[in-house]
Amino acid sequence: MNATEMYESMKSKLGRIVPDVELRYKAGIAVEINELKKQRNAVILGHNYMEPALFHSIPDFTGDSLDLSRKAAQTDKDVIVFCGVKFMAETAKILNPSKTVLLPAEKAGCSLAASITADDVRALKAKFPGVPVVTYVNTYADVKAESDVCCTSSNAAAVVESLHAETVIFLPDEYLAKNVARETGKHIIFPTPLASPHPDTGTHAEDVEIEKVGMGGPGGGLIGWRGRCEVHEKFTLKDIETVRLQFPDVLILAHPECSPEVTAAADFSGSTNAMIRYVKESKAPHYLLLTECAMGDNVAAANPEKDMLRLCMVRCPHMNMITMEDTRDALKFNRYVIEVPEEIRVKAYRAVERMIKIG
Ligand code: 13P
Ligand code: SF4
Repeated sequence: MNATEMYESMKSKLGRIVPDVELRYKAGIAVEINELKKQRNAVILGHNYMEPALFHSIPDFTGDSLDLSRKAAQTDKDVIVFCGVKFMAETAKILNPSKTVLLPAEKAGCSLAASITADDVRALKAKFPGVPVVTYVNTYADVKAESDVCCTSSNAAAVVESLHAETVIFLPDEYLAKNVARETGKHIIFPTPLASPHPDTGTHAEDVEIEKVGMGGPGGGLIGWRGRCEVHEKFTLKDIETVRLQFPDVLILAHPECSPEVTAAADFSGSTNAMIRYVKESKAPHYLLLTECAMGDNVAAANPEKDMLRLCMVRCPHMNMITMEDTRDALKFNRYVIEVPEEIRVKAYRAVERMIKIG
């Protein structure tokens, strides 16, 4: 495809969403990237949070974390360029170690992944011996390596239930854990981080609660961690009430990294792919997505007949680091190469592979 054809293709999908001048500029970069992609025998994976021009021009596959992990595992290309954040690129390397995995922005992290270390997980395992550990994929490889099985937002409850365990350690997202606890009928507690006292009370009082885990109800218990997504934690019940007052027939979708109050008040909660499917398959006059708002643009582009409201006061600073210019330079200069030490990779692989088998 030459630059004119690329521009026409992008305009047909994004003409109502992105100004023409930006489309013309980015069409030129997209052509360069696609040429480099061929030269390097590369595949580009694009998370649903990528900005619209990038999302609609260069990825070979787009999707949520689970979907893209599967694509990374299956590819026979030499190079995987991950247009997403570091934990996603690491997961690709864990699953397909003989490939060169590139992340276009070296510092594209994640507040959830930064909230917990492998030492934290080891300390929890020492405190609760024999209790299985489920870890959200939004963590780094050394944390995954300490876990029994990983999960994503699309299969978290299924993974917990697959263990048939009375008590499960579920890390590190506090809100996802609370949403899973509600879905699976489990009691949930948050042990005070082992080396430090409770931030509110200055004591280890919450430790007393630990005795109750597994006895909190017929469904058993979850032991959580207080990690938060810096984007989804910002949405409030008040936001939902205010939007519903203005648009009484709005259909509201919330990612499960939102608080349990928010997911309960929304009409639907699911992974980024599940939300995309839900909008496609339903008929409402207005929609509101409580998630990274670039995805609102991508969903609006795919559903031109539907009215997407945007609540764009919060952006993911990490996802937003991935630009088309940096993606081109990633292929040109072979950067930034993701490496995972083999002893960690092998252990992390077991946890990720087990998740993929559960589906
Ligand atoms: P998904 O797995 O639903 O795509 O979510 C990834 C993510 O980082 C959400 O903030
Ligand atoms: Fe992490 Fe939240 Fe950004 Fe997703 S949106 S990458 S969970 S900080």
